[in-house]
Amino acid sequence: MASLTQRDEDLIHVDPSFLTKWNLSVPRYTSYPTAPQFSSMKEETYIEKLKEFDQTAKPLSLYLHIPFCRSMCLFCGCSVILNRNPERQSRYLSYLYKEISLLPFSQKREVTQLHIGGGTPTSLSEEEFDELVDLLQRRFFWNEGAEISIEIDPRTVFADRGRKLRHLKALGFNRVSFGVQDLDAKVQEAVKRRQTEEMTFTTFRLAREIGFQGINLDLIYGLPCQTRASFLNTAQKIAELRPDRIAFFSYAKVPWLKKHQLAISEELLPSDQEKFTIYTDARAIWMQSGYQPIGMDHFSLPEDSLSIAYREKKIMRNFQGYSVCLSSDLIGLGITSIGCVEGTYVQNAKTMAEYEASLDRGALPASRGYVLKEKDRIVRDVIQKLMCHFEIDKREFFVLTQVPFNQYFSASREEIMRLVQEGLIEDFEDRLVATAMGRLMIRVIASVFDEYKTGNYSKAI
Ligand SMILES: C[S@@+](CC[C@H](N)C(=O)[O-])C[C@H]1O[C@@H](n2cnc3c(N)ncnc32)[C@H](O)[C@@H]1O
Ligand code: SF4
Repeated sequence: MASLTQRDEDLIHVDPSFLTKWNLSVPRYTSYPTAPQFSSMKEETYIEKLKEFDQTAKPLSLYLHIPFCRSMCLFCGCSVILNRNPERQSRYLSYLYKEISLLPFSQKREVTQLHIGGGTPTSLSEEEFDELVDLLQRRFFWNEGAEISIEIDPRTVFADRGRKLRHLKALGFNRVSFGVQDLDAKVQEAVKRRQTEEMTFTTFRLAREIGFQGINLDLIYGLPCQTRASFLNTAQKIAELRPDRIAFFSYAKVPWLKKHQLAISEELLPSDQEKFTIYTDARAIWMQSGYQPIGMDHFSLPEDSLSIAYREKKIMRNFQGYSVCLSSDLIGLGITSIGCVEGTYVQNAKTMAEYEASLDRGALPASRGYVLKEKDRIVRDVIQKLMCHFEIDKREFFVLTQVPFNQYFSASREEIMRLVQEGLIEDFEDRLVATAMGRLMIRVIASVFDEYKTGNYSKAI
């Protein structure tokens, strides 16, 4: 067993007043600027960017959103449509195909990453997957080492004993991410997500047998009825299962956006201090079991490609969390999807009516977005480096901008010095480095460089 470093040991005892002070509402920085800064965007602007991209030989990442779920987990912050009607789903797919066919590319483009997320993508039938993959392959070709991944709710692939999983593997999917959240039955009851250990363990083992790589499990801390003791049990069992990756999300409580979260009674939620201890306990267990912590909320086995990319400083943070950086341009397909092409963020229509209406007019369903200005690109790079590697190399910054780092961010100097005094960062001549505690509050540190900072966000822990 690997032992913890002094820095990690330090994280375990935290003064509650410290948490109260720093547990601020700040963005999760899956983009910069963040989505509240996006404003309405015309289809022409998006088409222009896609055509600009078409002039390059760069590879692409694709994100495809399948919003349907059969039931709603009360904690869910994703973009979901409750649905049990297969016709509604096939109608959505026909619109998705229209969207793909409208991309103005003069040639078949190379894809290095395809991620299908949701909702619950495995609500699609085998025939629907065949059709979707066939269409994608007519428009794009997969790079030899492409990551073709999909989010899977184990409850949807358990009953058929691996049939759909094998089908996905045969179609070229090589990575899977399973939603687990918590193994504890009481917690599951409180969030209305009933998923037995057998469902989780059996589907995980099947995925291993079938040959998927980079298998990820999603877990959440801060859920109702979670206690330090209950989650220790979950964390230990997950460590024994040994997934390649663990995504350990802080429960993002955003009831002003997701009304169903109001059904979770406040009294059942762990206090900030308990939530934090649940996090540090689980972190310690996984690190002692050999996992490498990645960014603020991921863990991966040292031989996994995410760990390798982390050590080589080749990871990025985007709307799917942390991933290996294989291309700088991402096209989002489907309702609410966000992409970034040629330095421009584009979000698709958020309602089905708007999504369909655009495509019925023969227009791509871009609705909001943001064209990055030069300063945005510089700040985005700084925030990415903090979120991914917890430090900024001031010399590298100078080479890039020809302006000394401290001078460029002179307006933030006071705030930076406050973070230094509070023990969240260390400010050296050539580097700015987050401390062990600062790494857990990295969203707060990143927000110091954020030029916009307006909007209502979930708490930092
Ligand atoms: C689209 S879901 C995963 C696929 C599938 N629907 C499932 O639940 O198994 C993506 C992940 O987002 C995470 N998630 C959803 N809502 C969240 C919230 N409010 N706070 C933190 N994480 C959340 C969950 O861990 C979930 O597994
Ligand atoms: S967590 Fe997954 S299954 Fe549950 S509502 Fe959200 S997207 Fe659907």
